[in-house]
Amino acid sequence: MDTKTTVIASEDLARQARICDEIKEHWRGQGIVPRAYVDTYGCQQNEADSEKIRGMLAACGYEMAEDEEGADVIVLNTCAIREHAEQRVYGNVGALVHTKRRHPGQKIFLCGCMMGQPHVVEKIKKSYRHVDGVFNPHQLWRFPELLRQALSTGKRVFAAEDSAGSIAEGIPLLRQGGVKAWVSVMYGCNNFCSYCIVPYVRGRERSRHPEEILHEVRGLLQRGYKDITLLGQNVNSYGKDLGLGIDFADLLAEIAGLPGDFWLRFMTSHPKDATKKLFDTMAASPKIAKQFHLPVQSGNDRVLKEMNRRYTRAQYLSLVDYGRQVMPELVLTSDIIVGFPGETEEEFEDTLSLIEKVRYDALFTFIYSPRKGTPAAEMADPVPRQEKNRWFDRLVTAQNKISEEIHLGYVGKTVKILVDGAEDGVLTGRTEGGRLVRLAGPTDWIGRFVDVEITGHTTWSLEGKPKVQ
Ligand code: SAH
Ligand code: SF4
Ligand code: F3S
Repeated sequence: MDTKTTVIASEDLARQARICDEIKEHWRGQGIVPRAYVDTYGCQQNEADSEKIRGMLAACGYEMAEDEEGADVIVLNTCAIREHAEQRVYGNVGALVHTKRRHPGQKIFLCGCMMGQPHVVEKIKKSYRHVDGVFNPHQLWRFPELLRQALSTGKRVFAAEDSAGSIAEGIPLLRQGGVKAWVSVMYGCNNFCSYCIVPYVRGRERSRHPEEILHEVRGLLQRGYKDITLLGQNVNSYGKDLGLGIDFADLLAEIAGLPGDFWLRFMTSHPKDATKKLFDTMAASPKIAKQFHLPVQSGNDRVLKEMNRRYTRAQYLSLVDYGRQVMPELVLTSDIIVGFPGETEEEFEDTLSLIEKVRYDALFTFIYSPRKGTPAAEMADPVPRQEKNRWFDRLVTAQNKISEEIHLGYVGKTVKILVDGAEDGVLTGRTEGGRLVRLAGPTDWIGRFVDVEITGHTTWSLEGKPKVQ
């Protein structure tokens, strides 16, 4: 792999913009308003990338379609994190054969993390011949050029060269909704947790310049966005590659210092790099949401070591203690992997005891899935799936009980929420800690902070009624 990251030159991006104009002209000349459908799998990094893909498509004259039927371009932005995620993509790509038969001019593109794996690209080349183009995360900025090539030659295009990654500033973005926005602060990951495919498909850690980030956030606040989430696989590494003497806590403090009424969040933090300074910065600013997603993965030291996580259970717990000491209201969430190769039932029980101790507000729980090319995929994995399922169910049951107890604790309290949408005639909003709240109210409250009295709860959400405004 090439180990140098590159900043894409502005001339190269200007060229892509010119290609967009040409594609727009091409459609205009035919008197057609073309339609595009972008389907996103995986995490917020992919959601953020899809906003760029939509932005580039809009610049090429495309309107966004609700589904794949009849769309002139379909882009599937894929995820490689677990086997199940990949199977869903293969199933959906397979089904597109029929969609394309009904609309023969349709161009189908696959991108995202699965396309960062050479064996997947080979499989698409050989067995999914209705796919017109593939690009991996490093080549995303070249999408207009690839689209034009596919449109003008009718040939398949593959842009999946391996790379340490690049930073491309100034790609147009088409965001969904006008209340919450994601802002990538860095790309890639250097951690190489032994089970994880991300460092292989997204390249080395690279940080955006703080001025670029501040400029983007200022623009969002001016346009009325009220909830900004800073994104990165491990935001705590922010700035290490820049040499500007700015770390993530500094960046956070600077953004929180911008004028306006908004909440600022971030994800994800690796526990080995989360600092007291970060917690102190959060505690000091009323605009930084008191919410922390701190994936622990396992509560057992041997398993953590095998996972190459580089912290111990005790270190993790002391971090949580410190966070709660400076922010007693802190909402904590985490990710857990059940059934890592060689994990025993006793070791799994250490994870159970950890979650009982920490009492997370919510957990994202996964059964280990071997990923080709990662060290863990080579480790002996003797525990049968059924047994892992049983552990998984124990974990979910324990966490549901905790989440429900925590939710019950909200009932009768008044909390500030940001109304962010409406579903089936009911408004939805989030608390500062990210809890989902449903309430009755007019849709023009969307984008507003509202005080709500919590009247009821389920495992996953709260119900409330607005206090008189
Ligand atoms: N960068 C983030 C999260 C990346 S992926 C972090 O470090 O926390 C999100 C979650 O998917 C991980 O936290 C982990 O719990 C889970 N995950 C990653 N690889 C996995 C695998 N091979 N099998 C099962 N779960 C996995
Ligand atoms: Fe994967 Fe670990 Fe990097 Fe997260 S920190 S993306 S789990 S390698
Ligand atoms: Fe999936 Fe890639 Fe995110 S593998 S979880 S979409 S970084």
